[in-house]
Amino acid sequence: MANVKFYAGESFPLEMHKVRIIQKLNLISVEERGRAIAEAGNNTFLLKNKDVFMDMLTDSGVNAMSDRQLASMMAADDSYAGSETFTRLERSIKHFFGTKYFLPAHQGRACENIMSQIFVKPGYVVPMNYHFTTAKALITVNGGTVEEIIIDEGLKIKSSYPFKGNINIDKLKSVIDSYGVNKVAYVRMEAGTNLVGGQPFSLENYTEVSKICRAAGIPLVLDASLLADNLYFIKQREAACKNMTLHTIVLRISELSDIIYFSARKLGFGRGGGICTNNHEHFLKIRELIPLYEGFLTYGGMSVREMEAIAIGLDETLDEDMISQGPIFIDYMVKELEKRNIPVITPAGGLGCHVDAMAFLDHIPQSQYPAGALASSFFIASGIRGMERGTMSEQRGPDGSEHFSNMELLRLALPRRVFTLSQVNYAVDRLKWLYDNRGLVEGLKFVEEPKILRFFFGRLEPVSDWQTKLIAKFRKDFGDSL
Ligand code: F0G
Repeated sequence: MANVKFYAGESFPLEMHKVRIIQKLNLISVEERGRAIAEAGNNTFLLKNKDVFMDMLTDSGVNAMSDRQLASMMAADDSYAGSETFTRLERSIKHFFGTKYFLPAHQGRACENIMSQIFVKPGYVVPMNYHFTTAKALITVNGGTVEEIIIDEGLKIKSSYPFKGNINIDKLKSVIDSYGVNKVAYVRMEAGTNLVGGQPFSLENYTEVSKICRAAGIPLVLDASLLADNLYFIKQREAACKNMTLHTIVLRISELSDIIYFSARKLGFGRGGGICTNNHEHFLKIRELIPLYEGFLTYGGMSVREMEAIAIGLDETLDEDMISQGPIFIDYMVKELEKRNIPVITPAGGLGCHVDAMAFLDHIPQSQYPAGALASSFFIASGIRGMERGTMSEQRGPDGSEHFSNMELLRLALPRRVFTLSQVNYAVDRLKWLYDNRGLVEGLKFVEEPKILRFFFGRLEPVSDWQTKLIAKFRKDFGDSL
């Protein structure tokens, strides 16, 4: 976003785009919201979009596309093998990352599946700054374990540390020593570390991690799904990178990596994914699995229209006006919440705004899913759909015991260029009301609990009739307002 000073002194985000296609929204009454969330088993993944006012579940596949992206989709060349569209996408990706090889996949977790199948064997470990749900599930399904070696600051809710996604270098060395080099499948670094609040790593830290991996002969794998946010933060917060172009930073990161994979539902604002490398051996191994799981090598499960959009989306990722929109809106929202004493992860990261449910609902034990209860009650209060990122999003241990999450978060994603500032203000207002009435909110319990990735389609119910009381209080406070 451009550097614009306001005459009035105060400053607020200024969009560097205009809206030319709109989608009508619907805000249903608080009673209907109560019914909708009950029907969804108190799981916001199971809500119907027609009942949702602002969809802040995720930024995955729902960022606004540009006019250039939409136009490119009309010129897509559909063919099973050798389409011109694929050639354009390949060219765009190779230019963006500067890598020799690119292999397409239908989305991010498909890349994770392939990476795990190739590199992870029973007894192996994958050290990483922090896990992502699908990455971890696919590593453990193949018999591996995950070691999270993020710096301590990364797990603090309130912090002013600019790179909370960094790896603790001493811990990395000691994990490699204790498992032995041969048992380390690869080191995984996630850009814009999703589950700790969209927090970035620094180029300096990534350089050190790469040095250690190269010295030990361990592949360094970058999950670049949230690279756009991370890039913006490196440019803004890392003094040594202030004068580098965004592309120079991407190319540096790329040189330090052995394999890069990404969800193009996030990076490139389309729907798809892919894996890049300069290493011929890795390329050959990965290439074998693409036709098996994804599709032929010139589409990998993606539609040609999406491939065209991703090619342009990557080009636009090198435009600071474009990649700054998310972080600047998120920063605004975080500061507005802080002014109202609502506990939220700081510093503001990418992806969205992360409310600290453990503090917000400090009377609810982790066994009753405070972040899930916050997601459910916030939907009732606002019609806004957020996402639980806490204990519900973890897997139980092999003996059935709960694994309590380090953080209990309600993630309110800000899909890029989708919401206006007044909509963000509405979200802040309703969150403040809920905060003032937090004593009314109680916990949830599972009534249907899938074994793997239970947060996607598990169903829960409230431990008491607290939702009825919350709805009654809303009516009392807001009269006949929606
Ligand atoms: N890696 C990261 C860092 C992600 O955030 C995601 C998806 C994936 C991998 C998997 O990619 O969905 O294309 O298969 N994150 C979404 C989210 C689901 O809502 O945060 P995918």
